[in-house]
Amino acid sequence: MNDSKIIDALLLPFERDLLQTPERAFLMRAEPHEALREDWRSRLVCEQGFKPAYDRLVQAGFETVPRLDGRFAAGLVLLTKHKAENRANMARAWILLEPGGVLVCCGANALGAASHEREAERVFGLAGSLSKHQARTFWIVRGTGAAPAECAEWLAGAEPRPVEGCGLVARAGCFSSDHVDKGSRLLMECLPEGVAGRVADLGAGWGYLSAEILRRFPAVTGIDLYEAEALALEDARSNLGDDGRAAFHWLDVGAGLPKVEPQKFEPYDWIVSNPPFHEGRKADPAIGQGFITAAWKAIRRRGKFVLVANRSLPYEAELRRRFREVTLLREAEGFKVYLASNRHDK
Ligand SMILES: C[S@@+](CC[C@H](N)C(=O)[O-])C[C@H]1O[C@@H](n2cnc3c(N)ncnc32)[C@H](O)[C@@H]1O
Repeated sequence: MNDSKIIDALLLPFERDLLQTPERAFLMRAEPHEALREDWRSRLVCEQGFKPAYDRLVQAGFETVPRLDGRFAAGLVLLTKHKAENRANMARAWILLEPGGVLVCCGANALGAASHEREAERVFGLAGSLSKHQARTFWIVRGTGAAPAECAEWLAGAEPRPVEGCGLVARAGCFSSDHVDKGSRLLMECLPEGVAGRVADLGAGWGYLSAEILRRFPAVTGIDLYEAEALALEDARSNLGDDGRAAFHWLDVGAGLPKVEPQKFEPYDWIVSNPPFHEGRKADPAIGQGFITAAWKAIRRRGKFVLVANRSLPYEAELRRRFREVTLLREAEGFKVYLASNRHDK
């Protein structure tokens, strides 16, 4: 479904005067949609933990935070495809409301919004609902009583859990949260010996690659984890925070790694990445190409960059444009692992 249609559906109860437009409200899973016109822009506190979207919201003039806090008379939640995340967001949203506050939730039918509506009805009791634009919009009013027992259960469902077979934790909604990604495992299997010095992990997720590198290579002096999802980075911190060599950066890698004063800039000896290839529903190889550019800019002249990607993605040409030597280390299970070294100057 078209993104602006989902906003139209979310705001429908206000447009139809079924609810009064609030002075101030939070919006979970916010995006700077055109449909959020000026009258809403000034009323909203947006929550967005994904850094590129957070930056877009700030640039479009929305008050934005990575995680909401405080008390509100009204709240809006855009439902996603992740059931555990939606349940936890509804529970958090209920807790953020003042007694008497209104919470409006909206999601596409294709993402299972109707089943969330049924759950909300059972747990909170519905104050109203609408069906339009292939979406469900439903709202509840917080009473004066204590939180329903399901709230604690739903919040617990979004807590970090053990990832099978690696001793690390991740929460639902993060990339490959219940098992180690095949591509990442493959990258670790063919990572050359001798990884040492300063290392960066671009799109580090909950920290699998970085944790393995720290475990296997004692000569690594420091590893910088760059990740756009704030909650994934929080999980990476739980997984690696005790190792003093790890540092955590909430960052849009596509916008480049932070610039340090030139005299202090210390490029990386090694960079590893299993880059994303889509944002939301849109597949876009330009995202991975942006990661390659970021790695090229931040790596030492003789540094080594190891990248894993779905074998159909057109990354080899970009690697060759940026590095003199590009070797295909492994092709298996639908992935390719490349080692690129000896960077070009331009
Ligand atoms: C394919 S996953 C790999 C995760 C992790 N390295 C692993 O091996 O499990 C790509 C990661 O990049 C993150 N990501 C997506 N867009 C990003 C961006 N613009 N900047 C930084 N990280 C991004 C995603 O949240 C995701 O955690």
